[in-house]
Amino acid sequence: MGNRPYWPNETVCSVDDESRKGSALRSFSGRDILSLKGFERAEFDHVFEVAEGLEPLARERRNSDLLSGKTLVTAFYQPSTRTRLAHESAMIRLGGQVTGFADAKMTRAGDFYQESIKDTVHMLEYYGDVIVMRHFQQGAPQEAARWASIPVINAGDGWGEHPTQVLTDLYTVQREMGTVDGLKFVCIGDMRMRTMHSIAYALTQFDAEMIAIAPPEMSLTDEFKAEIAEQNLFIREADHIQDVISEADVIYMEPVVQADYTKGRDEREGGDLPTTPDNYRVTRKLLETAKPSSIILHSLPRMDELPADVDGTRHARYWQEAYYGVVMRMALLALVLGAAE
Ligand code: CP
Repeated sequence: MGNRPYWPNETVCSVDDESRKGSALRSFSGRDILSLKGFERAEFDHVFEVAEGLEPLARERRNSDLLSGKTLVTAFYQPSTRTRLAHESAMIRLGGQVTGFADAKMTRAGDFYQESIKDTVHMLEYYGDVIVMRHFQQGAPQEAARWASIPVINAGDGWGEHPTQVLTDLYTVQREMGTVDGLKFVCIGDMRMRTMHSIAYALTQFDAEMIAIAPPEMSLTDEFKAEIAEQNLFIREADHIQDVISEADVIYMEPVVQADYTKGRDEREGGDLPTTPDNYRVTRKLLETAKPSSIILHSLPRMDELPADVDGTRHARYWQEAYYGVVMRMALLALVLGAAE
């Protein structure tokens, strides 16, 4: 959230400073959620706690008035099914209102004028109380946060990060397995993906291990691995899922048949897509060698790396992950809008 140039005495949300005395936890009220780099363990624990408190609303399909009078603005410069609608659903569950766009082509940012993020955000900040932005340019939500006087939530920026998805994923692990600590995450797929960056940053805060399996041209960069290693997460790499699946507690998947995330829209012109090599596929047959307790997470959409017949196995948790996506967005919206401390 940038500086507000007008009405300097006005606050967007009130913060109960008394209640935070003696607490080392930074307040979420008014904060942007842009990256999981630097997101601390106590903050993960706190967000999970708030999510658990709000979960009955989603489970019982009830709405509340926690955010009545507040409006969410969605600014989606790239397609989305889950992230946008989960935020909108979360806002509605909490009694708030929603406005925004799901296709920048219908705005001045996507036509002749190519209106800048700065100019666009200087409009959006007057239309609501929090902005959720997805953009094809890495760093665009950070740029928006520089200019906005209201919190900005990163809903995925190019190949950069996808913090709310990974908060959802770790909350799913917490709820389904009772803990994130002590678990081995086998991450399989395109390591350039924003979820893979966010999960690596997140796992530095837990007593967890990470194994990465990706085609060489989609592997983690040495710079990124070094950055993560500085925080004591030493990422192991493997060539084939069959070599490590028996070690996995969490199988964390992304496609390797992948869209270009630096584009606003990937409209393919027909023609056959490549198929996923066995190294990066999780099949029902392969799961016979997995721990019975292991779970599969996939933020979706999927290609052929995760066949539909895996959905009926004991390992599949991606539908639960989608459900927890609403719960997590309720928690984040309540926190940044100051309705939960
Ligand atoms: N997981 C995810 O980001 O899905 P959408 O692209 O549908 O939002």
